[in-house]
Amino acid sequence: MSGVSYTQALDRAIAIALHLEATGDLHQSLDVAFSRSPHPQARAAATGLAYTLAARWGVVDRILEEVQGEKLSASTSLLRAALRVGATEVLWSRKHPVEVSKALGKVLKGKTSPRILPRIRWVLKKVANFSWPRPRNFLEHAFWTYFFPADLAQKLKDLYGESGALHFMAFVNHEKPPTTIRANRARTTPDKLGQKLAEKGIPTRPSPLVEDFLILETTHPVMRLEEFQQGLFTIQDSASGLAVARLLEKGQPQAILDACAAPGRKTGYLRELAPKTTLVAGDTKASRLLKAKKELGRLGHQAHLIVMDATAPPLKRESFTHILVDAPCSGSGTLWSHPERRWFRKGEDLETLSQTQKAILSALFPLLKHGGRLLYATCSLWREESEEVTQALLETHPQARLLSQERLAPHTHGTTGFYLAIIERGRGTESRK
Ligand SMILES: C[S@@+](CC[C@H](N)C(=O)[O-])C[C@H]1O[C@@H](n2cnc3c(N)ncnc32)[C@H](O)[C@@H]1O
Repeated sequence: MSGVSYTQALDRAIAIALHLEATGDLHQSLDVAFSRSPHPQARAAATGLAYTLAARWGVVDRILEEVQGEKLSASTSLLRAALRVGATEVLWSRKHPVEVSKALGKVLKGKTSPRILPRIRWVLKKVANFSWPRPRNFLEHAFWTYFFPADLAQKLKDLYGESGALHFMAFVNHEKPPTTIRANRARTTPDKLGQKLAEKGIPTRPSPLVEDFLILETTHPVMRLEEFQQGLFTIQDSASGLAVARLLEKGQPQAILDACAAPGRKTGYLRELAPKTTLVAGDTKASRLLKAKKELGRLGHQAHLIVMDATAPPLKRESFTHILVDAPCSGSGTLWSHPERRWFRKGEDLETLSQTQKAILSALFPLLKHGGRLLYATCSLWREESEEVTQALLETHPQARLLSQERLAPHTHGTTGFYLAIIERGRGTESRK
């Protein structure tokens, strides 16, 4: 890469690091940083650097604090961002600290005091000589080898056991999450779509999990394709598709409720699998429902969209044969595609989330007709948001019968982490609790 584009890459990586620190959202930070479209090579380099830093954020900070002997909060946000980017380059791209410091000097020229530059060089030289601690136990191994904070590593160990947790961490670090697309049955077939994309040099293979889904063999900005604009496909993880397919695989759908629907990706698939059925899609957030409307419009689909709180749905009891509850959750299942979520987990109060999920399920279950099916799904790994929520419904609603529970995860299924439970409404005395 030329000197100019390397400087540009560092400049954009610093912008991403600044935004990431403020928002905790890597994808949003990339969008903001690339709104001023840099050279494609610089963009690719900055993206790679940002992913590397996002996954190792807490480790980079620990090293920077150790070598400086002070908290990073003592530095300005711009200096913190520059040091994080510089340290990532020195540690994982094996760049020479002097080369990186010089390039950072060009990026920061005019934006900060020139006295900062010798300090950056001094810190990066120390980072280059940092002696990595030898991990003595699982949690230290998780932190220094796999870049996972202790609380998260412990939860993964509780869930998968020690070797399963290490497998999970190694997998999400080394494997790239695939882009998966859903062929819109109303407009094409997976075969025809796969063929069209192949003709454009975009090879795909069928998803082993759901029949309408294709996995891209290479990275491609498929949203820019005319086939996307024409509504031939949607980008969607195959675990999400499996949730919809599982809900509809039994029973004749007469009326479907998608209770936490926005931005409408699963609503679209419900419509494709049950084209003629009444379909109600609700969500608390009107702004997100507008996105659902746009998404459904692109695909040529329709549904009744309503702003509603699923803990107090304004809908008649026993009026749906099928209900999809894709509940609000911690999103811990998306750690693969969102590496920053290891370190930024704002709003992940499992106790509150679990209570909301239980309240939603309990309020929606009476809307199901006898013999109807409800699918409870979350993109969470944690039991508090999955099995424990299902169990609470079973304990308080005697007519609720658990038909199946499934867990999907990156290292076992190659998908986002997902939990699916199918619950049927049988006959019997219903508790009014
Ligand atoms: C996991 S997302 C749903 C994703 C969507 N099903 C899709 O596939 O595109 C969860 C949604 O639940 C909504 N939500 C949160 N609390 C809710 C509530 N009490 N009632 C209804 N929707 C709620 C959020 O606004 C969010 O859009």
